[in-house]
Amino acid sequence: MKVNGIHYRPVWQAADGSAVEIIDQTKLPHEFVVARLTSMADAAHAIRAMLVRGAPLIGATAAWGLWLAMREDASDAGLTSAYEALMQTRPTAVNLRWALDAGRAKLAPLPAGERVEAAAAFARHVCDEDAELNHSIGRHGLEIIRAIAAKKPGQTVNVLTHCNAGWLATVDWGTATSPIYQAHDAGIPIHVWVDETRPRNQGAFLTAWELGNHGVDHTVIVDNAGGHLMQHGQVDLCITGTDRTSANGDVANKIGTYLKALAAHDNGVPFYVALPSPTIDWTLADGFAIPIEERSADEVTRIPGRLDDGSIGAVTITPEGSKAANPAFDVTPARLVTGLITERGTAPATPEGLLGLFPERRAAG
Ligand code: MRU
Repeated sequence: MKVNGIHYRPVWQAADGSAVEIIDQTKLPHEFVVARLTSMADAAHAIRAMLVRGAPLIGATAAWGLWLAMREDASDAGLTSAYEALMQTRPTAVNLRWALDAGRAKLAPLPAGERVEAAAAFARHVCDEDAELNHSIGRHGLEIIRAIAAKKPGQTVNVLTHCNAGWLATVDWGTATSPIYQAHDAGIPIHVWVDETRPRNQGAFLTAWELGNHGVDHTVIVDNAGGHLMQHGQVDLCITGTDRTSANGDVANKIGTYLKALAAHDNGVPFYVALPSPTIDWTLADGFAIPIEERSADEVTRIPGRLDDGSIGAVTITPEGSKAANPAFDVTPARLVTGLITERGTAPATPEGLLGLFPERRAAG
């Protein structure tokens, strides 16, 4: 998507081929900073410290991390240690495992001398494919928005989203935002309620920035406002992303997603989850085995932002000595999900629904 008229992806190979470049998402929305990753350790740090984040982008950055690793040491031992180091970075998004497994399977049979080039080709492929998958998700999601718009001619369609499942979380388009961008571009009047998404404020910092850049009307709300808005008919549908969806359609996503799904269910508001197929964990029968990342308590007790004097800083909001807990994701049971919007279409959140779209998985067992 474009920033100041220039098309950006959140991760790419530097034009001279010397490094990987990323948009440093810890600086947004206050500063637009491009950071260079020159080693596998840089890539692992960028994922762990959330300079890049969002399930598909974590996978894409890990793929580039393998390229950086092969430049350093293309031996079998180098491949194994890079695979293990990158796999340790964040536990919940299954796209990380998907990209690393696929990358290792491509590289391991090759002689060491061919691995650097092959790793770069693999990372490019992961990125291009993710952009295509998300564009297709947008086409299918657009039909859902179009159907809602047809029922309220001349009126705005109000979508609520949580966290950032936008182009910054993927390689392009986003998952939850792809239908929104495509509806906006098709001339459907659309407005987005953006959950701020404490503690890291991905909604307030990133989704609001993205939507503003694209000219999409939006309003940032505190995380607890969604239920109230749904009770008062101000939300036509919810769309979120997911970090890992089990084979039965349970979805792990940013902490707070479950509460939005409950409120949507109670108010008859459709609750859709948008995901590319690499986010499906076919090995898990249900979502309760999904590992939930526990992050630092500092993210709860301190809030970063632009201070009144114009500098970027953080403020402490809790009394000294209060404990804080920070589970970063929760699991929304499939029964609360109206549909899963994938690159192949929208499926009911059931084992049969997913297998209907991905029949090759039936054969795989
Ligand atoms: O902790 P984050 O910012 O990586 O969490 C991101 C999310 O929860 C997204 O909704 C999810 O990864 C889907 S991204 C298309």
